[in-house]
Amino acid sequence: MYDIVKKTKEWKFMKIGIDKLGFFTPDLYVDMAELARTRHEDPNKYLIGIGQAKMAVIPPTQDVVTMAANAAQRILTVDDKEQLDLVIFATESGIDNSKAAAVYVARLLGLKSNIRAFEVKQACYGATAGLQLARDHVALFPRSKVLVIGADIARYGLKTPGEPTQGGGAVALLVSADPQILALDKQSAYQTQDIMDFWRPLGQTEAMVDGKYSSNIYLEFLDHVWQDYQQKTGLKLEDLAAVLFHLPYTKLGLKGIRQLTTGAEPALTLRLTKEFEHARTFNRLVGNLYTGSLYLSLLSLLQQSEQLIAGDRLGLFSYGSGAEAEFYSGILQPDFKAGLMGVDYSQLLANRQQVSVDKYEHLFKQQLFHAATEELDYSNDPARFVLAGVKEYQRQYLEH
Ligand code: HMG
Repeated sequence: MYDIVKKTKEWKFMKIGIDKLGFFTPDLYVDMAELARTRHEDPNKYLIGIGQAKMAVIPPTQDVVTMAANAAQRILTVDDKEQLDLVIFATESGIDNSKAAAVYVARLLGLKSNIRAFEVKQACYGATAGLQLARDHVALFPRSKVLVIGADIARYGLKTPGEPTQGGGAVALLVSADPQILALDKQSAYQTQDIMDFWRPLGQTEAMVDGKYSSNIYLEFLDHVWQDYQQKTGLKLEDLAAVLFHLPYTKLGLKGIRQLTTGAEPALTLRLTKEFEHARTFNRLVGNLYTGSLYLSLLSLLQQSEQLIAGDRLGLFSYGSGAEAEFYSGILQPDFKAGLMGVDYSQLLANRQQVSVDKYEHLFKQQLFHAATEELDYSNDPARFVLAGVKEYQRQYLEH
């Protein structure tokens, strides 16, 4: 009895959250103004109306497994690997109907075998589900560390209205007690409703979407969970140093911040809008990476903002079509910059190679989905982990 009371008190005061954050996107992009001109659209529709300047182009030698391993290897030390006992891989562009991408990643990263590793799916909400599960796991086992991955390739198809909102990449979150970056608040607000705004039937390689409807539902869910979060926590907009959004295209986050700040003091609106600009910088250059998008935005804020200080509370809005949303928050920790492991993501994104629209279209069609046996030339892919091909439907991953 005494032990239970003691443990409950420990949980109450223990900080749990994001200790480290890593990100990977391939080294190729297409320029959105050029894509707009090729599609006979005004470039400002993509640059301002949608809010995207560049879009990640995914070569066939990268998929969710390789991108995840490339993101995670940026943050994991030997000690982390020793303490890791759970890998949660969130994706909606998985590469197998049965085997979890987490199992491949655990092998590529050299993790020990006495771990749990599995995949979760709920559109772009998956990584948030993983993060909350990881938090609960660490509450039970405070010495454990959990690797949560959000990796996806967003595909709507060439010459579709969704095309300028594609992209891809992976985020890796290390969750632990006494985290360096963000200690999660316990209370959050969530909502699930069966809605057909975006889906991808089995066997299809591109998503189906009711684009305008999906954007409206996103904003309705934002309103609902934000009201609920305020009621549950007693916190208000002025208690937040910044609000982060899932960013399928960055204009939608701008609509989100405008919705939240309607009727707010001008100084508060200005402060939150400024931070939103920092939070969308990287997403404007990558596009949608589905479930990793919110956490790329967190990374962008942490590297771009000069105002944030330890103790600031960040609000996070996670949305996954279908549909599910959650509004939660966390407190920035004194070493939050150290949790990014010294990687300069602005530089990494600036160093990517631009490809022509023709080349992007070619690579779009080269992704391996149904091939039984095929070898890929990975000599031009500078990433550490690559997909070298498939042999009798078995994907061949290697480190080079
Ligand atoms: P569209 O029909 O091509 O674009 O589709 P539009 O005509 O609505 O124009 C877009 C905006 O550009 C409009 O602004 C125009 O006024 C403006 P808004 O009315 O929205 O404020 N515009 C211009 N602005 C400046 N200069 C110009 C100009 N011309 C027009 N010259 C749409 C756009 C986003 C619907 C489409 O790309 C799409 O369907 N995308 C995919 C769906 C999507 O991203 N939905 C977001 C919510 S659902 C979600 O977030 C979940 C998701 O990530 C998946 C998951 O959970 O797994 C998608």
